[in-house]
Amino acid sequence: MNKIVVEGLKYKYPLSDTLALDDLSFQVKEGEFIGIIGKNSAGKSTLCQALVGLVPHFYKGAYGGKVFIDGLEVKNQTIADISLKVGMVFQNPFTQVTGSKMTVYEEIAFGLENIGIPRSEMIARIDYVLDLLKIEQVKDQNPFDLSGGQMQRMAIASIIAMKPDILVLDEPTSQLDPAGSEEVFQAIQSLSKQGITIILAEHKMEKVALYCHRVLLLDDGKMVDINTPGKIFSRGDLEQHGVAAPVYTRVCKELGVRKAGTSEFPVTLAEAESVLRGRKI
Ligand SMILES: Nc1ncnc2c1ncn2[C@@H]1O[C@H](COP(=O)(O)OP(=O)(O)OP(=O)(O)O)[C@@H](O)[C@H]1O
Ligand SMILES: [Mg+2]
Repeated sequence: MNKIVVEGLKYKYPLSDTLALDDLSFQVKEGEFIGIIGKNSAGKSTLCQALVGLVPHFYKGAYGGKVFIDGLEVKNQTIADISLKVGMVFQNPFTQVTGSKMTVYEEIAFGLENIGIPRSEMIARIDYVLDLLKIEQVKDQNPFDLSGGQMQRMAIASIIAMKPDILVLDEPTSQLDPAGSEEVFQAIQSLSKQGITIILAEHKMEKVALYCHRVLLLDDGKMVDINTPGKIFSRGDLEQHGVAAPVYTRVCKELGVRKAGTSEFPVTLAEAESVLRGRKI
């Protein structure tokens, strides 16, 4: 079943001359994990905001086309209604902090209190996300005393605690070191395995290749392609769109080594290793 349907979506920010989103059409099935990639200013964040209704409800400007979540058109619903189904983690975690809560625990509890979750359920959900995002040890700290990485984990935790059907994550590990990024990706993958639909805007192509089912390539607001990581990263024109394939793909392209029986190049370490080990050098 299609969870998200986008039809001819166009959007221009107020005072801008160019379309930030230019005639996008695609569908996402329930439980899919979709990566959105593209160079800076390609429109990744704007597309994320259109999926949660901030475009056009918060950001005005010129809007055309349709976005449906569970068959309901985003334009005709309030942001509050949409947010019950779709959780969004913003590119900058600082913008997501309420600023009024004294501890990480209270910060995560805030959204749950707002939607009237009973106390025992609230405690269970908070314990779960503190453990999932590995921030148990900072639960009594002031949110503004956290490192960028801890704040990013807290922002993700507060959204996951709301149990959305769809999770939209805009570069959720930009403040994290490689080990922290890997932990957060593992947490996102475990949510994906529970059937949550995931939309992830990301610059870290190795992660996109490893975790995403399909990848949507944007350039100047236009959708160039939406396909499996293998097909997207094997495209010959990737660099023309300002995107570098995962390092494993680039090495294999250089060596002319493709996956057996296909025209695709390996996109993950495991795929590259298996192809290269089977090859006489
Ligand atoms: N609030 C805004 N007002 C006006 N123009 C904006 C606004 N936010 C983004 N834009 C413009 O819309 C276009 C798409 O930007 P967007 O932030 O969606 O790109 P992005 O792919 O997320 O880039 P990045 O990789 O840098 O995060 C860019 O040309 C950008 O300058
Ligand atoms: Mg962005």
